[in-house]
Amino acid sequence: MLEGKKIILGISGSIAAYKSAALARLFVKAGAEVKVIMTSSSQDFITPITMATLSRNPVLIDFVKGNSGEWNNHVELGLLADIMIIAPASANTLAKMAHGICDNLLLATYLSARCPVFVAPAMDLDMFAHPATQNNLKLLSSFGNTIFEPNAGELASGLEGKGRMVEPEEILEFISNHFSDQQILKGKKVLITAGPTYEHIDPVRFVGNHSTGKMGFAIAEVFASKGAQVILVTGPSNQKAKHGNITRIDVTSAAEMYDATLKHFPKTNIAVMSAAVADYTPEKVSISKIKKSGDELQLKLKKTRDILKELGKIKTKKQILVGFALETDNEEANAIKKLNEKNLDFIVLNSLKNKGAGFGFDTNQIQVIHKGGEKVNYGLKPKHEVAKDIVDQIIKTLHA
Ligand code: CTP
Repeated sequence: MLEGKKIILGISGSIAAYKSAALARLFVKAGAEVKVIMTSSSQDFITPITMATLSRNPVLIDFVKGNSGEWNNHVELGLLADIMIIAPASANTLAKMAHGICDNLLLATYLSARCPVFVAPAMDLDMFAHPATQNNLKLLSSFGNTIFEPNAGELASGLEGKGRMVEPEEILEFISNHFSDQQILKGKKVLITAGPTYEHIDPVRFVGNHSTGKMGFAIAEVFASKGAQVILVTGPSNQKAKHGNITRIDVTSAAEMYDATLKHFPKTNIAVMSAAVADYTPEKVSISKIKKSGDELQLKLKKTRDILKELGKIKTKKQILVGFALETDNEEANAIKKLNEKNLDFIVLNSLKNKGAGFGFDTNQIQVIHKGGEKVNYGLKPKHEVAKDIVDQIIKTLHA
């Protein structure tokens, strides 16, 4: 089930390092190619010989191989891996990962890795519960790393509590699911809009909004990580599309977004319109800069075309269409109105009344309202977690 997958297994200094031996064996038995990187303190708990034998590869510890002058290229390692897992991750290694400290090969590889990273903490209960550790874990999670919550039980100190590294079998199951999940939307074509639109007034000014594009880009990444081919039509945004399955199309105005989106919609299986499209645009765009004159300037705006509404009109029964509603008042009623008027499968409601939700924040709090009336409420979460929830709802709708 892990046939041909390249896994980097990082081991830091914790008594739980004995479990890494079983983990390496399970990965190898499942067909993976395993490269182990050990910190120097992990060698107090398990020997490189054990890990090299079980992983069937030499263990990497230092930047330089002996006195040969040949070095272990952490950038190459980080680029080649399909996943990296740090198990056990000690409090010290977690802290360094969270803050970009790079004083060993394991940390340099972590910082260079472009692949998904999984972290299995192991430590004593008070170290785990300490706000410093908890904050570090939150940081790692905000980077998109997956944390395996430790189990509760008897610890090496003799104390009872949370801090035991998850069992190798649990990790194997999770990682196997991760790889099968990568194929779950293979063959699906997804169209996403993201970011703001800028409506030009003259060559130097525009009417715009505070959308950053974070939500739309996060949704694109989740779809791509599940094997879908994504077309991301984005207004001006500093966000970067990382996954190779994402084709980014940059537009500026609502009219350009309309054209690009309508062009790609017929070949799309799933469309998610998360852009904050301007509802009005200047009737006339001045070719030269408007000079200051008089106490007032009247700008006449005309309505833009509603992209989502247009898609709702032409959508076939096989296509899934999802929209967003950003509301300040009568949130649910307004969202349901948009859901019906725009012929959506479901709508994602953000209320600006919720603290930490909406433009510019790294977090969001949503409610999903399906056309059949089902409502799903979520708590405040990082946007990449919210993106996973939205994609899960779409997968559910696909299979309904
Ligand atoms: N939308 C769109 N094209 C537009 C305006 C909005 O595709 N010209 C989409 C957004 O991407 C979002 C949904 O419509 O998915 C709802 O956007 P929102 O601004 O909340 O609603 P509007 O329909 O514009 O209504 P209002 O601004 O009056 O709330």
